[in-house]
Amino acid sequence: MLDLIYPIKRKFPICDTLKCSVCHLLPLETLQYVEMKMKHDTIRVFTPDIPAELTFVERKQVNNKLVNAIRTPGKQIVVYGENGSGKTTLLTNKLNQLYEGYISTSCTGETTVEHILRDGFDQLGKFYISQVERKKSISIGGEIKNNYALIANSIKIQRKRETNVTEVPIIPPDLTVQLLAKFFGESKYAWVLEDFHKVRKSEKKRISDLLKVFANEAQNAPSTKVIIIGAVESAGEIAAFSNDMNRRIYQIKVDLMTNEEISEIILRGSELLNLTFEDNVKAAIVMASGFRPSRCHQLCLNICQDLEINETVEQTVKISMSDFEKSIGTYHEAYGYFITDGYKYE
Ligand SMILES: Nc1ncnc2c1ncn2[C@@H]1O[C@H](COP(=O)(O)OP(=O)(O)O)[C@@H](O)[C@H]1O
Ligand SMILES: [Mg+2]
Repeated sequence: MLDLIYPIKRKFPICDTLKCSVCHLLPLETLQYVEMKMKHDTIRVFTPDIPAELTFVERKQVNNKLVNAIRTPGKQIVVYGENGSGKTTLLTNKLNQLYEGYISTSCTGETTVEHILRDGFDQLGKFYISQVERKKSISIGGEIKNNYALIANSIKIQRKRETNVTEVPIIPPDLTVQLLAKFFGESKYAWVLEDFHKVRKSEKKRISDLLKVFANEAQNAPSTKVIIIGAVESAGEIAAFSNDMNRRIYQIKVDLMTNEEISEIILRGSELLNLTFEDNVKAAIVMASGFRPSRCHQLCLNICQDLEINETVEQTVKISMSDFEKSIGTYHEAYGYFITDGYKYE
């Protein structure tokens, strides 16, 4: 039943030609085989600062929980955990697989609900406006489309008057949270609010009220969903603000990675670039990463860059301990600290 509402959709992250038609039909194993056979840029394989796609490792501990929450209409989600544990990466990969699309709004200490509303509304333009312009065959409900256009117009006028980008934007009275939820419902996009922990306490309460409205709207449009990403304390805060909502909020903790998961990143990356890491090198990278995937990506990237491997190589290259030692020196110079207590850099 749920499959009918959210058919499993897998986007092929690399090649737009394949993405449009073939990849939806190919089974996962075939896709992985195709990926392995392609040439890849090293900076797209090892990605310390952006969400990994090519080397994405499934997080077994939380995968089912997250997938179920994403696929259950009306469930709002809080994903929390330490900085760098892999929250954004996990979520973006799962939403790419399971959802029509998503919109991501980043929060800071200055963010108010008005900023969030405005940002969510503006970004929905990629659905409403681009569809109209490209005259896509997917029809958008006429009334809701007109409503969007009218509000977009009054915001456009308002924007000309705003001088300071940090000031709290004035939201046209028509743009209620309820209406925004309807706009999201029509688009079938999920809404991700990043860095919730940075927001002021008074605004956190208002954001949890927004969650309720979206949960209610899911009765009309099942895909209406807000996903909050935050630091460890975020889960407790949302729960405290919305007692009556607890049944409708899934809280999902993303722990730092296990050593097996870190090894999997090295393995996937080495297959994509046609490299072989000697066993002791793999073990050293795992240890030096200290359960943090971004460090693993950074170290592997440094090794490749030091060896001038900028894309998949024709002939398999072996990565030895001396390559690793050299790259960890680069890392040490760049970041100025011993990367873990466990690994001593001499
Ligand atoms: N499941 C994963 N598979 C492969 N690499 C990952 C995974 N999760 C995170 N990473 C890598 O670790 C880095 C930090 O992850 P990120 O999702 O930004 O963490 P968080 O959002 O929790 O701060 C990313 O740049 C990404 O390259
Ligand atoms: Mg993040």
